[in-house]
Amino acid sequence: MPMNIAIDGPVGAGKSSIADQVAQRLHILHLDTGAMYRTVALYMLRNGIDPQDEQTVSAHCGEADVRVAYRDGAQRTMLGGEDVSDLIRTGEVSAAASAISKWSAVRRRMVAAQREIAATADMLIDGRDIGTVVFPDAELKLFMTADTAVRACRRYKELTGKGMSVTMEEVERNIRERDKADMSRAVSPLRQADDAIVLDNSHMSVDEQMAWFMNEFQLKMKN
Ligand code: DC
Repeated sequence: MPMNIAIDGPVGAGKSSIADQVAQRLHILHLDTGAMYRTVALYMLRNGIDPQDEQTVSAHCGEADVRVAYRDGAQRTMLGGEDVSDLIRTGEVSAAASAISKWSAVRRRMVAAQREIAATADMLIDGRDIGTVVFPDAELKLFMTADTAVRACRRYKELTGKGMSVTMEEVERNIRERDKADMSRAVSPLRQADDAIVLDNSHMSVDEQMAWFMNEFQLKMKN
């Protein structure tokens, strides 16, 4: 049975960057499940489907051929054979992903696809419901979080670093809205699994987080 490590947490908690580095260190693959929801959202936008319209999204979500491929160990996310890894990082797709991820038909498909992918190799999987729903029996479950202001500051630097023109207030408001959407949806809301180890990284460097993680991993593997 392949090993699964689950990392959940809110937007801006730094899951993706830590997950990438940990996966490299452990020589396993990193599955970014948010990218899969984003790809379904892109499909809906391209086909003129309102992400808030549950019925239409549910009727068409099976048409979105979402797959992941690994190039030099890094995930590329594919829609019907097209590499959409960069196209799914816009604000419009983020907002649509937040909307479509509320719908149970979408979640059912994504959970099934994630289980299928992770059955093929040892993986570190990051998302919102990985330790609670997708892999409740994961070998190791982490819940990463940080203060809202710290997460907003990180996101602001990331967006302005990419040349996007946003204000700190807009970024913080957006983070609060996405937290609310993630935590209050009826199906698989973001929450910490009872057996998850919590990392509040508000005041930690990436190196400190890596050291913490490797220590937790080694402790877990000894037991
Ligand atoms: O992590 P992210 O920002 O790329 O995620 C995009 C959206 O998908 C976000 O609104 C939360 C949602 N999501 C989810 O509901 N469940 C997951 N396992 C991963 C992401």
